[in-house]
Amino acid sequence: MNRENNVKCLVIALPSGRLLKSSIQLLERIGIDLKGGKEINRKLSFYNREKSIKFIITKPKDNPTYVECGVADIGIVGEDVLLEEKKDVYKLLDLKLGKYKMILAAPESRNQENIYKNNGHRLKIATKYPHIAGDYFRQKGIYVEIIKLYGSVELAPQVGLADMIVDIVSTGRTLKENNLVVVDEITTLSVQLIVNRISYKTKHDKITHFLKDIKQSIVPALDKTK
Ligand code: PRP
Repeated sequence: MNRENNVKCLVIALPSGRLLKSSIQLLERIGIDLKGGKEINRKLSFYNREKSIKFIITKPKDNPTYVECGVADIGIVGEDVLLEEKKDVYKLLDLKLGKYKMILAAPESRNQENIYKNNGHRLKIATKYPHIAGDYFRQKGIYVEIIKLYGSVELAPQVGLADMIVDIVSTGRTLKENNLVVVDEITTLSVQLIVNRISYKTKHDKITHFLKDIKQSIVPALDKTK
């Protein structure tokens, strides 16, 4: 299906990785059968004829890019990505797929009282989120060196690459396993439904209908946890 055909249907960008399963379960709750994601292996786009919805599978960090440029109308994305990538999209709904945090963490052995002091040396901060980390330290008026990594950030202080890390924490297991402790919570994050600004006008009825279904499916899911 090419871009012209997309005018008639909704295009939804789903994130690959850890959010894919919960995104599929959410869609299945509103009657969109994705067969538990069994078809999603190497195939990166598919079409649900019954609902007239096209799905594309994106890397989580690329998800808002597809939505911003209008290739996808709707995206499912973690707020960490939204904050870091700063794309021009509407944030429509918190999908209640789990809360997590952006934190500053340091080795347990580090002097926690003067955490920002570094014997006169500039602090080195390893992170997958250079913009978020940069903004955080700028607001504090602390001049740091940001070391951009693509993953396994918790390794950096252990091997002497960095003094501290800025990263997301969910269960806290990875920090614990690597002898790191949270020294500051930068912000709380959740998984968001995002929408392209133009699609929100041109496909308003379709998007509102989809949103209504999603909202209704979130409420019973929350009730189960009571
Ligand atoms: C994320 C994050 C932490 C970990 C936190 O990494 O960057 O490393 O999850 O989760 P926890 O608090 O539940 O332990 P991810 O698994 O996405 O892998 P990566 O480090 O390769 O990016």
